[in-house]
Amino acid sequence: MTPTERHNRATRRQAFGAAVEEYDKARPSYPGEAVDWSLGQPTDQLKVVEVGAGTGKLTRVLLDLGHDVIAVEPDGTMLERLRNNLGHHPQLDTHLGTAEDLPVPDGTADAVIAGQAFHWFEPGLALPEMERVLVDDGTAAAIWNTRDDSERWVAEMGRILGESTSGGATGRNVVDEVAFGSGFTAVESAQFRHTQHLNRHAVHALALSRSYTIGMRESEKEAMLTALDDLLRPNFTTDDEIRLPYIVECFRALRLSRP
Ligand SMILES: C[S@@+](CC[C@H](N)C(=O)[O-])C[C@H]1O[C@@H](n2cnc3c(N)ncnc32)[C@H](O)[C@@H]1O
Repeated sequence: MTPTERHNRATRRQAFGAAVEEYDKARPSYPGEAVDWSLGQPTDQLKVVEVGAGTGKLTRVLLDLGHDVIAVEPDGTMLERLRNNLGHHPQLDTHLGTAEDLPVPDGTADAVIAGQAFHWFEPGLALPEMERVLVDDGTAAAIWNTRDDSERWVAEMGRILGESTSGGATGRNVVDEVAFGSGFTAVESAQFRHTQHLNRHAVHALALSRSYTIGMRESEKEAMLTALDDLLRPNFTTDDEIRLPYIVECFRALRLSRP
């Protein structure tokens, strides 16, 4: 990565708070079965550290599955929204913090999971942190919602959103590279499908919540939204919704036992 690419990436990963409203309104959740698989299909209640928790999309699913969750998020605006959304929950603890310096004691987490966030972490620092906080045989997991662009209009939507040139906005280009390091077993992967129902406002919010659209000029944003409206007009149902298909890409590995 060149210094310019590194700078752009650092700027983009800190951008989400500026679009917290759009993010919370329009980003998809995760199907419970995908999260369950990622955690190793536990039968017991786990202590789960969720890293890069954002406004709590994945946090809510983890809580609904009955787990105790420590949600870690570096952006104060995103964390505040998470606390407003879920802060009352008795099984939730929240912390301002990063993947590279987790505010969690050694060997105390049954699982560490990141939704749509693992590609923002510095692996040289974040992977040892995951290893440190996990119990022996604990699970590390990373999951991404990627739009299913086998449908032509969905692929075209990605083109309008600029993803073909933006380099990994959804994490898809890092999906082939997911590795948790030598302290873990080989990575296993699985895919799950789901569909998000969005009205026109939510489609706009979805477009404006991407890390690389947040910094665009207003005129560029308007042109993008007009192109999206033109593309999607035939796909709206009589309820004025589109049904956007997603594939959830899930990766997991177990922490090797300490000597
Ligand atoms: C695309 S959002 C995903 C939020 C949430 N997990 C979800 O699924 O909706 C990525 C999140 O990762 C956070 N993030 C970026 N760099 C991070 C880092 N180094 N450590 C922890 N979180 C980070 C961002 O602040 C942002 O909230």
